[in-house]
Amino acid sequence: MSHLQLSANDFAALAARVTRMAADYLAGLGDLRTFPEVSGASAAQRFGEALPEEGLGPAALDALHEVLELSRPPSPRFFGYVLGSGEPVAALADLLASVLNQNVTAWRSAPAAVTLERQLVGALATALGCSGYGGSLCGGGSMANLMGLAMAREAHLPANTSGARAGIVYASSEVHMSIPKAMALLGLGRDNLRLIATDERWRMSVPQLRAAIAADRAAGRRPFAVVASSGTVNTGSIDPLADIAAVCREQRLWMHIDGAYGAVAALAVPAQFDGLNMADSLSLDPHKWLYQPLDCGVLLFKDAAAARTAFSHSGDYARSLEEDPLESFAFFEESLELSRRFRALKLWLSVRYHGLAAFRRAIDADLRHAQLLAQQVEASAQLDSSSAIATSFQHRRYGLAR
Ligand SMILES: Cc1ncc(COP(=O)(O)O)c(C=O)c1O
Repeated sequence: MSHLQLSANDFAALAARVTRMAADYLAGLGDLRTFPEVSGASAAQRFGEALPEEGLGPAALDALHEVLELSRPPSPRFFGYVLGSGEPVAALADLLASVLNQNVTAWRSAPAAVTLERQLVGALATALGCSGYGGSLCGGGSMANLMGLAMAREAHLPANTSGARAGIVYASSEVHMSIPKAMALLGLGRDNLRLIATDERWRMSVPQLRAAIAADRAAGRRPFAVVASSGTVNTGSIDPLADIAAVCREQRLWMHIDGAYGAVAALAVPAQFDGLNMADSLSLDPHKWLYQPLDCGVLLFKDAAAARTAFSHSGDYARSLEEDPLESFAFFEESLELSRRFRALKLWLSVRYHGLAAFRRAIDADLRHAQLLAQQVEASAQLDSSSAIATSFQHRRYGLAR
């Protein structure tokens, strides 16, 4: 470290430059183009300089303006992708989290951060109507979905010791691509994901789900989980969660809800999410609809023991000698991650600063904007508001007959 030392004063001077730059950027955000004037080749050329053998000192920061200039700005006029806006109080927390550099893997390595993350996850679950759920923060919805399905597999078709066995998972034809990817990575195989047709509002058809489960059982196959979407990536549709939960209970299947896109909207419109608290596992993305800077995903689960069954395999060097239930806690026993950054700090600070009510109002405003846009599309002669485009997209994607 001694070769890399920086005095507190030098750090403060650099931080002042960076925060000034960030504040100026935020001030001008509304005037920036929604995509920078840059090509792949020109970006490669602008960042093509060799890494210096000798440090540039404070002049190293001079190139940051190019990074800002060539970035796709988090502009209030950009509506592409499913992405939050990068709430600035949270960004400041991210700076401090990196300075603190906690490894949020176990209480003994990061007492404040682990305590804060556990309490934040519990409070978020409660605010979404899922009180009693535990969980952890992770890199995003894809990671949370992978972990949710790993828990489902280990609960129903244990694979950690002897390897994966064949089993069938059900999801609607609108399911996000992270689910087939998780099937592949877990050794279950994408072909064993049944894509159930949707109704006229793009929600999973429960009769078709029942029929598919019955057909698989009749053929001697082993159904073990259903993935419901609470907010599909194409249309934002919410599957009939309570009805799907009833099927899962009756058929003894794990219920995972992919709420990466929409579940946090339960803060503002809980009635739309009836059945959310019936899931065995649930993924959420604060880096989408809680406006947090990347990355910030969450996996919630009903039963921490199921998470430990899936993820706990500690080397001797990592075993805790503590007896105290709080001090012996280790996230690495309930998550795929071992070294973990202090993601909770940004969400915690951001919610403390603005208050939960402000987030509810922001989500409400987004919903009103979407409805206004839909009305204007309906009213426009040039725009097609029918679902024809999405339908043909789905046909191509899954080869579905509708
Ligand atoms: C419904 C849904 N699930 C999962 C994901 C994946 O989330 P992430 O990009 O955070 O991995 C997305 C991303 O858009 C999504 O919309």
